[in-house]
Amino acid sequence: MTANPRPLLDVQDLHVAIEGKEILKGINLTLCEGQCHALMGRNGSGKSTLSHAIMGHPSYVITGGRILYRGEDLSALSTEQRARAGIFLCFQYPMAIPGVTVASFLRHALKAVEGERFDPKTFRKRVKQAMERLGIDSDFVRRHVNDGFSGGEKKRLEMLQMELLAPRLSILDETDSGLDIDALRIVSEGINRHLGPGNAALVITHYQRILSYVKPDVVHVMIDGRIVRSGGPELALELEEQGYDWLEPTSVEETSP
Ligand SMILES: Nc1ncnc2c1ncn2[C@@H]1O[C@H](COP(=O)(O)OP(=O)(O)OP(=O)(O)O)[C@@H](O)[C@H]1O
Ligand SMILES: [Mg+2]
Repeated sequence: MTANPRPLLDVQDLHVAIEGKEILKGINLTLCEGQCHALMGRNGSGKSTLSHAIMGHPSYVITGGRILYRGEDLSALSTEQRARAGIFLCFQYPMAIPGVTVASFLRHALKAVEGERFDPKTFRKRVKQAMERLGIDSDFVRRHVNDGFSGGEKKRLEMLQMELLAPRLSILDETDSGLDIDALRIVSEGINRHLGPGNAALVITHYQRILSYVKPDVVHVMIDGRIVRSGGPELALELEEQGYDWLEPTSVEETSP
Protein backbone atom coordinates (compact mmCIF):
# COMPACT_ATOMS: atom_id res chain seq x y z
CA MET A 1 0.00 0.00 0.00
CA THR A 2 1.39 3.43 -0.89
CA ALA A 3 1.11 6.32 1.50
CA ASN A 4 -0.76 9.44 0.41
CA PRO A 5 1.58 11.60 -1.67
CA ARG A 6 2.67 14.76 0.11
CA PRO A 7 2.24 18.11 -1.62
CA LEU A 8 5.63 19.62 -2.46
CA LEU A 9 4.22 22.73 -4.10
CA ASP A 10 0.76 24.02 -3.30
CA VAL A 11 -0.33 27.13 -5.17
CA GLN A 12 -3.54 28.48 -3.68
CA ASP A 13 -5.76 31.04 -5.42
CA LEU A 14 -2.66 32.91 -6.59
CA HIS A 15 -3.05 36.37 -8.05
CA VAL A 16 0.04 38.07 -9.48
CA ALA A 17 0.43 41.54 -10.95
CA ILE A 18 3.23 43.05 -13.02
CA GLU A 19 3.52 46.83 -13.02
CA GLY A 20 0.02 47.06 -11.56
CA LYS A 21 -1.59 44.78 -14.17
CA GLU A 22 -3.10 41.52 -12.99
CA ILE A 23 -1.60 38.61 -14.95
CA LEU A 24 -2.45 35.58 -12.82
CA LYS A 25 -6.09 35.57 -11.77
CA GLY A 26 -6.47 32.82 -9.18
CA ILE A 27 -4.20 29.86 -9.89
CA ASN A 28 -4.65 26.60 -7.97
CA LEU A 29 -2.08 23.87 -8.53
CA THR A 30 -0.89 21.10 -6.22
CA LEU A 31 2.23 19.22 -7.18
CA CYS A 32 2.95 16.22 -4.98
CA GLU A 33 6.27 14.56 -4.27
CA GLY A 34 7.21 12.15 -7.04
CA GLN A 35 4.96 13.87 -9.57
CA CYS A 36 5.54 15.60 -12.86
CA HIS A 37 2.97 18.12 -14.06
CA ALA A 38 2.92 19.80 -17.45
CA LEU A 39 1.70 23.35 -17.91
CA MET A 40 0.58 24.37 -21.38
CA GLY A 41 -1.20 27.40 -22.79
CA ARG A 42 -1.13 30.14 -25.36
CA ASN A 43 1.68 32.69 -25.59
CA GLY A 44 1.17 35.36 -22.96
CA SER A 45 -1.26 33.34 -20.82
CA GLY A 46 0.96 33.64 -17.71
CA LYS A 47 3.01 30.43 -17.54
CA SER A 48 6.39 32.13 -17.10
CA THR A 49 4.78 34.59 -14.70
CA LEU A 50 3.83 31.66 -12.48
CA SER A 51 7.38 30.30 -12.60
CA HIS A 52 8.88 33.70 -11.71
CA ALA A 53 6.38 34.16 -8.87
CA ILE A 54 7.34 30.76 -7.43
CA MET A 55 11.01 31.78 -7.63
CA GLY A 56 10.28 35.13 -5.92
CA HIS A 57 11.18 37.54 -8.73
CA PRO A 58 10.67 41.04 -7.26
CA SER A 59 8.79 42.41 -10.32
CA TYR A 60 6.03 39.83 -9.90
CA VAL A 61 3.81 41.05 -7.06
CA ILE A 62 1.54 38.60 -5.28
CA THR A 63 -1.74 40.44 -4.80
CA GLY A 64 -3.73 37.48 -3.46
CA GLY A 65 -3.44 33.84 -2.45
CA ARG A 66 -0.24 32.09 -1.50
CA ILE A 67 2.43 29.61 -2.53
CA LEU A 68 3.27 26.81 -0.12
CA TYR A 69 6.43 24.75 -0.53
CA ARG A 70 6.71 21.71 1.74
CA GLY A 71 3.85 23.23 3.71
CA GLU A 72 5.59 26.59 4.30
CA ASP A 73 4.50 29.91 2.85
CA LEU A 74 7.26 31.05 0.48
CA SER A 75 6.49 34.76 0.73
CA ALA A 76 9.07 35.42 3.45
CA LEU A 77 11.92 33.80 1.50
CA SER A 78 14.26 35.58 -0.93
CA THR A 79 15.01 34.03 -4.32
CA GLU A 80 18.34 32.76 -3.00
CA GLN A 81 16.68 31.17 0.03
CA ARG A 82 14.18 29.47 -2.27
CA ALA A 83 17.07 28.08 -4.33
CA ARG A 84 18.73 26.83 -1.13
CA ALA A 85 15.45 25.19 -0.15
CA GLY A 86 15.65 23.15 -3.37
CA ILE A 87 13.64 25.11 -5.93
CA PHE A 88 15.19 25.48 -9.36
CA LEU A 89 13.93 27.33 -12.41
CA CYS A 90 15.22 26.54 -15.89
CA PHE A 91 14.72 29.91 -17.55
CA GLN A 92 12.85 30.33 -20.81
CA TYR A 93 15.32 33.05 -21.80
CA PRO A 94 18.66 32.42 -20.04
CA MET A 95 20.78 35.57 -19.79
CA ALA A 96 24.29 36.01 -21.15
CA ILE A 97 27.06 36.94 -18.71
CA PRO A 98 30.02 37.95 -20.87
CA GLY A 99 33.35 37.65 -19.04
CA VAL A 100 32.16 34.91 -16.67
CA THR A 101 33.10 31.37 -17.64
CA VAL A 102 30.66 28.51 -17.28
CA ALA A 103 33.05 26.88 -14.78
CA SER A 104 33.18 29.89 -12.46
CA PHE A 105 29.44 30.48 -12.82
CA LEU A 106 28.70 26.88 -11.80
CA ARG A 107 31.15 27.10 -8.88
CA HIS A 108 29.41 30.26 -7.66
CA ALA A 109 25.92 28.77 -8.08
CA LEU A 110 26.81 25.57 -6.24
CA LYS A 111 28.52 27.45 -3.42
CA ALA A 112 25.53 29.76 -3.03
CA VAL A 113 23.04 26.89 -2.88
CA GLU A 114 25.08 24.30 -0.99
CA GLY A 115 26.87 26.60 1.46
CA GLU A 116 29.06 24.51 3.77
CA ARG A 117 28.18 21.32 1.95
CA PHE A 118 30.05 22.59 -1.12
CA ASP A 119 33.31 20.67 -1.55
CA PRO A 120 35.80 22.51 -3.80
CA LYS A 121 37.92 19.35 -4.09
CA THR A 122 35.24 17.36 -5.89
CA PHE A 123 33.81 20.26 -7.91
CA ARG A 124 35.67 19.59 -11.19
CA LYS A 125 34.88 15.90 -11.09
CA ARG A 126 31.21 16.55 -10.39
CA VAL A 127 30.96 18.95 -13.33
CA LYS A 128 32.80 16.56 -15.64
CA GLN A 129 30.52 13.66 -14.70
CA ALA A 130 27.37 15.75 -15.08
CA MET A 131 28.55 16.94 -18.50
CA GLU A 132 29.17 13.37 -19.57
CA ARG A 133 25.66 12.37 -18.50
CA LEU A 134 24.25 15.23 -20.59
CA GLY A 135 26.54 14.64 -23.57
CA ILE A 136 28.15 18.08 -23.27
CA ASP A 137 31.62 18.66 -24.70
CA SER A 138 34.37 19.37 -22.13
CA ASP A 139 35.32 22.71 -23.80
CA PHE A 140 31.93 24.05 -22.75
CA VAL A 141 33.12 25.07 -19.25
CA ARG A 142 35.67 27.51 -20.67
CA ARG A 143 33.10 29.49 -22.65
CA HIS A 144 31.41 32.59 -21.25
CA VAL A 145 27.93 32.07 -19.85
CA ASN A 146 25.40 32.04 -22.70
CA ASP A 147 27.59 34.47 -24.66
CA GLY A 148 27.10 33.54 -28.30
CA PHE A 149 25.49 30.25 -27.28
CA SER A 150 23.03 28.67 -29.68
CA GLY A 151 19.48 28.23 -28.39
CA GLY A 152 20.13 24.56 -27.64
CA GLU A 153 23.43 25.29 -25.87
CA LYS A 154 21.68 27.73 -23.54
CA LYS A 155 19.15 25.06 -22.62
CA ARG A 156 21.93 22.54 -22.04
CA LEU A 157 23.60 24.89 -19.57
CA GLU A 158 20.29 25.19 -17.72
CA MET A 159 20.12 21.39 -17.61
CA LEU A 160 23.71 21.17 -16.41
CA GLN A 161 22.84 23.44 -13.49
CA MET A 162 19.84 21.28 -12.69
CA GLU A 163 21.90 18.12 -12.89
CA LEU A 164 24.46 19.56 -10.44
CA LEU A 165 22.08 21.24 -8.03
CA ALA A 166 19.77 18.21 -7.85
CA PRO A 167 16.78 20.34 -6.83
CA ARG A 168 13.72 19.04 -5.05
CA LEU A 169 11.38 21.09 -7.23
CA SER A 170 12.38 21.73 -10.85
CA ILE A 171 10.45 24.17 -12.98
CA LEU A 172 11.39 23.86 -16.64
CA ASP A 173 10.16 26.77 -18.68
CA GLU A 174 10.16 25.66 -22.32
CA THR A 175 13.42 23.78 -21.88
CA ASP A 176 12.39 21.68 -24.88
CA SER A 177 12.11 24.64 -27.25
CA GLY A 178 14.93 24.79 -29.75
CA LEU A 179 16.46 21.43 -28.84
CA ASP A 180 17.43 18.98 -31.54
CA ILE A 181 15.99 15.47 -31.26
CA ASP A 182 19.03 13.95 -29.52
CA ALA A 183 19.28 16.86 -27.07
CA LEU A 184 15.58 16.55 -26.28
CA ARG A 185 16.06 12.91 -25.34
CA ILE A 186 19.11 13.69 -23.19
CA VAL A 187 17.32 16.56 -21.46
CA SER A 188 14.28 14.35 -20.87
CA GLU A 189 16.48 11.67 -19.32
CA GLY A 190 17.92 14.37 -17.04
CA ILE A 191 14.42 15.35 -15.92
CA ASN A 192 13.44 11.72 -15.35
CA ARG A 193 16.59 11.11 -13.27
CA HIS A 194 15.43 13.82 -10.90
CA LEU A 195 11.91 12.55 -10.54
CA GLY A 196 12.71 10.30 -7.62
CA PRO A 197 10.78 10.11 -4.38
CA GLY A 198 10.54 13.49 -2.69
CA ASN A 199 11.18 15.45 -5.90
CA ALA A 200 8.79 16.92 -8.44
CA ALA A 201 8.87 18.78 -11.73
CA LEU A 202 6.68 21.34 -13.42
CA VAL A 203 7.30 21.22 -17.17
CA ILE A 204 6.09 24.25 -19.10
CA THR A 205 5.84 23.42 -22.77
CA HIS A 206 4.06 24.17 -26.01
CA TYR A 207 4.58 20.74 -27.46
CA GLN A 208 3.42 17.25 -26.71
CA ARG A 209 6.76 15.93 -28.03
CA ILE A 210 8.69 16.21 -24.71
CA LEU A 211 5.76 14.62 -22.90
CA SER A 212 6.35 11.35 -24.71
CA TYR A 213 9.72 11.16 -22.92
CA VAL A 214 8.75 12.80 -19.62
CA LYS A 215 5.42 11.34 -18.60
CA PRO A 216 3.27 13.92 -16.83
CA ASP A 217 0.86 12.81 -14.11
CA VAL A 218 -1.28 15.87 -14.79
CA VAL A 219 -1.49 18.32 -17.69
CA HIS A 220 -2.82 21.83 -16.95
CA VAL A 221 -3.97 24.35 -19.50
CA MET A 222 -3.64 28.04 -18.73
CA ILE A 223 -5.66 30.67 -20.54
CA ASP A 224 -5.54 34.34 -19.61
CA GLY A 225 -4.08 33.84 -16.14
CA ARG A 226 -6.31 30.94 -15.11
CA ILE A 227 -6.01 27.17 -15.26
CA VAL A 228 -9.06 26.29 -17.32
CA ARG A 229 -8.56 22.54 -17.57
CA SER A 230 -6.48 19.82 -15.92
CA GLY A 231 -6.35 16.24 -17.10
CA GLY A 232 -4.14 13.29 -17.96
CA PRO A 233 -1.48 13.10 -20.67
CA GLU A 234 -4.22 12.70 -23.31
CA LEU A 235 -5.09 16.37 -22.78
CA ALA A 236 -1.74 17.36 -24.36
CA LEU A 237 -2.59 15.25 -27.41
CA GLU A 238 -6.03 16.86 -27.68
CA LEU A 239 -4.43 20.32 -27.58
CA GLU A 240 -2.01 19.36 -30.33
CA GLU A 241 -4.96 18.32 -32.50
CA GLN A 242 -7.45 21.02 -31.64
CA GLY A 243 -5.54 24.06 -30.36
CA TYR A 244 -6.92 26.13 -27.49
CA ASP A 245 -10.16 27.63 -28.80
CA TRP A 246 -12.40 24.88 -27.42
CA LEU A 247 -11.08 25.63 -23.92
CA GLU A 248 -11.78 29.36 -24.01
CA PRO A 249 -14.06 30.15 -21.03
CA THR A 250 -16.71 31.71 -23.35
CA SER A 251 -16.92 28.70 -25.68
CA VAL A 252 -17.18 26.37 -22.64
CA GLU A 253 -20.12 28.39 -21.34
CA GLU A 254 -21.78 28.43 -24.73
CA THR A 255 -21.61 24.68 -25.10
CA SER A 256 -22.72 23.83 -21.55
CA PRO A 257 -26.41 22.91 -21.20
N1 LIG B 1 8.36 41.77 -16.72
C1 LIG B 1 7.22 42.05 -17.36
N2 LIG B 1 6.82 43.32 -17.61
C2 LIG B 1 5.66 43.61 -18.24
N3 LIG B 1 4.78 42.66 -18.66
C3 LIG B 1 5.12 41.39 -18.44
C4 LIG B 1 6.34 41.00 -17.79
N4 LIG B 1 6.39 39.65 -17.72
C5 LIG B 1 5.25 39.22 -18.30
N5 LIG B 1 4.49 40.25 -18.72
C6 LIG B 1 3.20 40.14 -19.42
O1 LIG B 1 2.42 39.15 -18.74
C7 LIG B 1 1.69 38.37 -19.66
C8 LIG B 1 2.04 36.91 -19.42
O2 LIG B 1 3.39 36.69 -19.81
P1 LIG B 1 4.14 35.31 -19.58
O3 LIG B 1 5.56 35.53 -19.97
O4 LIG B 1 3.87 34.82 -18.21
O5 LIG B 1 3.40 34.37 -20.64
P2 LIG B 1 3.72 32.88 -21.09
O6 LIG B 1 2.46 32.10 -20.87
O7 LIG B 1 4.93 32.41 -20.43
O8 LIG B 1 3.94 33.06 -22.66
P3 LIG B 1 4.94 32.29 -23.68
O9 LIG B 1 4.25 31.01 -24.03
O10 LIG B 1 5.02 33.21 -24.86
O11 LIG B 1 6.25 32.10 -23.01
C9 LIG B 1 2.06 38.88 -21.05
O12 LIG B 1 1.05 39.76 -21.46
C10 LIG B 1 3.36 39.60 -20.82
O13 LIG B 1 3.54 40.66 -21.74
MG1 LIG C 1 6.80 31.89 -21.10
